[in-house]
Amino acid sequence: MCGIVGYVGPREATPIIVEGLKRLEYRGYDSAGLAVIQDGRIEVRRDVGKLTNLEKVLAESPVHGNIGIGHTRWATHGAPCPRNAHPHVDCRGEVVIIHNGIVENFLSLRKELTGEGHRFTSETDTETIVHLVEKYLAESSDLEEAVRRALKRIKGAHAVVVMSSREPDRLVAARLGNAGGVVVGFGEGEMFVASDMPAILEHTREMVFLEDRQMAVVTREGAEFTTLDGQPVVKEVYTVPWDPVSAAKGEYKHFMQKEIYEQARSITDTIRGRVDFEAGRVCLDEIYITPDEAKAFERMFIVACGTSAYAALVGKFIIEALARIPVEVDYGSEFRYRDPLVNERTLVLAISQSGETVDTLAAMEEARRKGAKLLSIVNVIGSQAARMSDGVIYMQAGPEIGVASTKAFTASLVDQYLLALHLGKLRGLIDAARMKELVEDLAGLPNLVGQVLGDSNNYEALAAEYFKRENFLYLGRGINYPVALEGALKLKEISYIHAEGYPAGEMKHGPIALIDENMPVVAIATRDRVYEKMVSQIEQVKARDGLVIALATEGDDAIADKADHVIYVPPTPPLLSPVVNVVPLQLLAYFIAVRRGCDVDQPRNLAKSVTVEGRGAPP
Ligand code: F6R
Repeated sequence: MCGIVGYVGPREATPIIVEGLKRLEYRGYDSAGLAVIQDGRIEVRRDVGKLTNLEKVLAESPVHGNIGIGHTRWATHGAPCPRNAHPHVDCRGEVVIIHNGIVENFLSLRKELTGEGHRFTSETDTETIVHLVEKYLAESSDLEEAVRRALKRIKGAHAVVVMSSREPDRLVAARLGNAGGVVVGFGEGEMFVASDMPAILEHTREMVFLEDRQMAVVTREGAEFTTLDGQPVVKEVYTVPWDPVSAAKGEYKHFMQKEIYEQARSITDTIRGRVDFEAGRVCLDEIYITPDEAKAFERMFIVACGTSAYAALVGKFIIEALARIPVEVDYGSEFRYRDPLVNERTLVLAISQSGETVDTLAAMEEARRKGAKLLSIVNVIGSQAARMSDGVIYMQAGPEIGVASTKAFTASLVDQYLLALHLGKLRGLIDAARMKELVEDLAGLPNLVGQVLGDSNNYEALAAEYFKRENFLYLGRGINYPVALEGALKLKEISYIHAEGYPAGEMKHGPIALIDENMPVVAIATRDRVYEKMVSQIEQVKARDGLVIALATEGDDAIADKADHVIYVPPTPPLLSPVVNVVPLQLLAYFIAVRRGCDVDQPRNLAKSVTVEGRGAPP
């Protein structure tokens, strides 16, 4: 949940940056820092913990200047400590950087740079970027060019702001992929940069949002925008409306759309602080399970409702694969009415975005009564579910406002993956080498989701073709069967189209009777061990004149001959494929609902948090 703020103009930079960071406090952080150019030199101040700690450091050792950058950090590589807090400087103290994202190839870069004589003073992946800039600056003495070259070397999704005492009138900002936004704010003779609008709203409502692979060179007079390859880009200046709801939606029409597009970043935030990529370690100490306890678990239940229950069905695959505990998934509303076989060697996990869903809470109470160890994956901090649990893993997805759940679904999948790794390790099933591979898969995930969000699949055209249909079938197999259920739920709840999710192998046992030229079938056929079977299912649907929208892996050209439409997603490790595959289904549902003129953020009969049993929202 890193926050970024930058300023260049006639005023003192420090208070503007600190105030901006305070407005991002809600995103959470474990350390903070800023850098200001004072008398031609870069001055850095950093501390762990709350911003008040940084303010104390600044009171004891003030910095004055008209250009600066500040950052709040959630640790990914390296513990939270002043040394690892941003900003990070190069060997000569001439270049300084703040960064949001995960440098996937940081180990090899660090080795290369150390070999060339660069001295690292932190354990962070971010520091590799500033040394790369230093290296290229030695060759071209142009900061913008050096940043460009450095960014081309790093893998993953990133937002960065760089400042140099050699060019003390400018900030260079860039966005690569979707690890977080970069907003450039236009003032009167002053300019701002931030990761999120609230940081600078007090000063300006005129903003430009960088897209993937775009850069901005920001001086007090204005900003120039280019692509990462140096092509000039003309950007539209967006005027943020005064009313707070529209302001919170930013450039998006609906909260649901915003939340779908936030997912690369929310997933990064979910991972942040829980994985030591260098050591190949997952840190979930907050759930307080000892190795002996973990080894003694005989079975596990996951209880949840709606979208969270579909997340749980995916979790069953992940946890059984990595931690080898038999997992049963139950709806919160069913669990307590069937006298479940729970005892003190049972682990019960509740998943709830709101942490207030009454059926899930009742299932948790039942589990507690029967003596189970009780964990929860929850988005809302301090909610009832969190308070009831022996241990909580927060989703760290940020507030979800759209009634239809999107980013909480993907965050809870990532949390279950982390839990499975943690339990697998405690149970002695995952050795160090395997753990390293598994956490590396996770490191690449935000970027894969970012690719899906930034690709050219034309959901609006698909929506235009299909929005009048009244029925849809969604098919998947294995770990992607729950994704089919979730895709169908998204469509039905926001567009009011009847949609059903099915395990593809069940088609021949009944549902295939529904197929004719009026039935669109969304088939999840990405490359995995059941791929051939999904293709054969698509052929059977086509043989009965059904319409097929296939979700396939990039490079799978053969499927284009079999399906009516193909939505491509990048290749993804199988256990994480639901996180990537659900995104196009969310987008498809969203664009169909918009085309039907539905109230996407507040669908009829539904409430964001269901705190009563047996009733929906009041009409
Ligand atoms: C669907 C949706 C609901 C919720 C369900 C559980 O988009 O949002 O199905 O997932 O009501 O809510 P939480 O996760 O808050 O317990």
